[in-house]
Formats: sequence, structure tokens, C-alpha cells
Amino acid sequence: MNFNRHDLIGKKVFISGGSAGIGRGLALELAKRGASVVISARGRIALQKTVLELQGTGTSKAVFDFVIADVSDFKQVQSAAKKALKLLGGLDLLICNSGYAKVGKISDLDGSDFSKLMDVNYFGHVNVVRSFQKHFIKQGSGDIVLISSMLATFSIYGYGAYSASKFAITGFAQSLRQEMMMHNVRVKLFLPPTTNTPGLEKENQDKPALVKEIEMGSSLNATHSVEKVVAAFVNWLPKRNFIGYATWDSWFQYFLVRHFPEWTLLLADGELRSAQKRLNQNEKVIR
Ligand SMILES: NC(=O)c1ccc[n+]([C@@H]2O[C@H](COP(=O)([O-])OP(=O)(O)OC[C@H]3O[C@@H](n4cnc5c(N)ncnc54)[C@H](OP(=O)(O)O)[C@@H]3O)[C@@H](O)[C@H]2O)c1
Repeated sequence: MNFNRHDLIGKKVFISGGSAGIGRGLALELAKRGASVVISARGRIALQKTVLELQGTGTSKAVFDFVIADVSDFKQVQSAAKKALKLLGGLDLLICNSGYAKVGKISDLDGSDFSKLMDVNYFGHVNVVRSFQKHFIKQGSGDIVLISSMLATFSIYGYGAYSASKFAITGFAQSLRQEMMMHNVRVKLFLPPTTNTPGLEKENQDKPALVKEIEMGSSLNATHSVEKVVAAFVNWLPKRNFIGYATWDSWFQYFLVRHFPEWTLLLADGELRSAQKRLNQNEKVIR
């Protein structure tokens, strides 16, 4: 199946983590383009608020609703998927988007930080895909998009636990792509850059000072708006490319990592050392 702007009219879409940030932005954009959208998350109030916004944005013929599920709990996801299929009367496009970031030195994080990130970010996507997979196989058409992160292509200081959960999605997605290809179902992987969302705000609250300093001084890190990321997603969706980026700096980062891996490590090391130097100088000035 190939999407284009007109194809989205009447399409049935499910988005995990659709009540906030990138997921909410995608839900609103797809509704605007004529799709029916069911979103999921844990928090009822934000889900209700977003569904009201969808109703105000989309066409009167479309279905807008929500289901509640914690993506790390397979049983909850299975039952939410059943409800979503009933609400929509089928499914054409599945977007696995839910996720969060916890940043910190590997030596500072608890064991539970590592496992929770895997449970939500990696197993969350696995649970959602497995809950809808039989539907897609039976239907013999449709699209499944897994949202990962640019930090699934290259990791830096402070992102070890988060990146591992996002790298895992890539391996899963590559294998799923071939498996579902045999059923005429397309699987794609989208890698958002740093995006201004409630999730990023939360992530920044307990981000170590050195990580903030690296990001401020990085030549390859900028914060992008949800609108920009959503526009790039919708533009990439109908294309054949398996991997989707939102911005030129994302493309450039991936290019460097693929073609100059050792040089990219050196560049990142330089940024880390400069950030540490700046922090040390600031401390001296304060003292
Ligand atoms: N923002 C960025 O800079 C950035 C960069 C790269 C990749 N990404 C990825 O893009 C995706 C969206 O990020 P975002 O920044 O838009 O996040 P966000 O603003 O925090 O929104 C996250 C959404 O996921 C839901 N969610 C979180 N944990 C969940 C769980 N355990 N079960 C079910 N739903 C859950 C949230 O609702 P509830 O809390 O109510 O459940 C919310 O709807 C994530 O996978 C993230 O890792 C984001």
C-alpha cells in the first residue's frame, strides 16, 4: 500500500502515546488529512483532551477515540488493541510512538532505570506490534511505523540506557520488515531528532549538567518543533525508504555515523572534552 495525501482520507490509524508530544502532533495532522484515529496512553485526562482536539480538527465522518493501556503490559495492550480494532472497524496504519528518556551516567543509574526503559521503549513497541500483527497478516495490507530516535544511530555520554532501548527497536524493525513484507504489509522506522515536547521538558529536568553542556555546544544538536517533525513524517510516509529522518542535521549525523564511524567518535569525544572544560571554567568563575 502506498500513502499519499489523498490516501489518508478514510484511513484507520492507531497511535500509541498519542496524547502528547510527537504522537499528539501526528494524530492531529492525520485527522486533518481525513483519517480516523484512535490513540492510546496511560493518562485518561490527556487522552480525552486530545480526542476533543481531534474531533475539532478532523472530518465528521471520521472516528476519534482513545483506549487506555500501559505499553509495557502485554495483557493491557492486547485488550486495548481489540477495542481499537472494534472502534475503527479495522486498521490501516499502526504507529508505535510511546516512549520516554531517562538520561544519566551508566554508573549513576539504577538497575530499574535500564529495565524500565527496555520495558516501555522496546517491549512497549513489541507488545503493540504483536497485538495487531494477526490483524495485518489476515488483511494482507497496511503500514506499521516504529518510532525510535536519532540516538538509535549513535550514542553519547549520558544516553547509554536510553539508546540501548532505541537501538533494540532497529533490530526488531529490520526483521519485522522482512516478515511482514511476505504479507504485503510495509514496516518503516522513523528517527526523530531532539523535539520540543512535554517528554523533552521532563527529560531536561534531571539531565546531568555535563549532558546539557554537550548538547548546547554540539554542532549536530538542535531542538526542533513538533510541527516540523510531523511534517517530515507525513512527507516520508508514502515513500519507499525504510528509515525516516526529520531534519537535515539528522540526515548528516546518520551519514557521518555510516560512512565515517571512527571520525564521528572523535568528533563526539571533542565535544565531550570541550563541554567538560566549559563547565570547569564556569565553576572557577563562580568560586
Ligand atoms: N522529544 C524528543 O526529543 C524525542 C527525540 C527522539 C525520539 N523521541 C521518541 O519519540 C516518541 C515520542 O516522544 P515525545 O517526546 O513526544 O514524548 P512525550 O511528549 O512524553 O509523550 C509520550 C506519549 O507516550 C505516552 N506514554 C509514555 N509512557 C507510556 C507507557 N508506559 N504506556 C503507554 N503510553 C505511554 C504518554 O502518555 P502517558 O504518560 O499518559 O502514558 C504520551 O502520550 C518516544 O518514543 C520518544 O522516545 C523523542
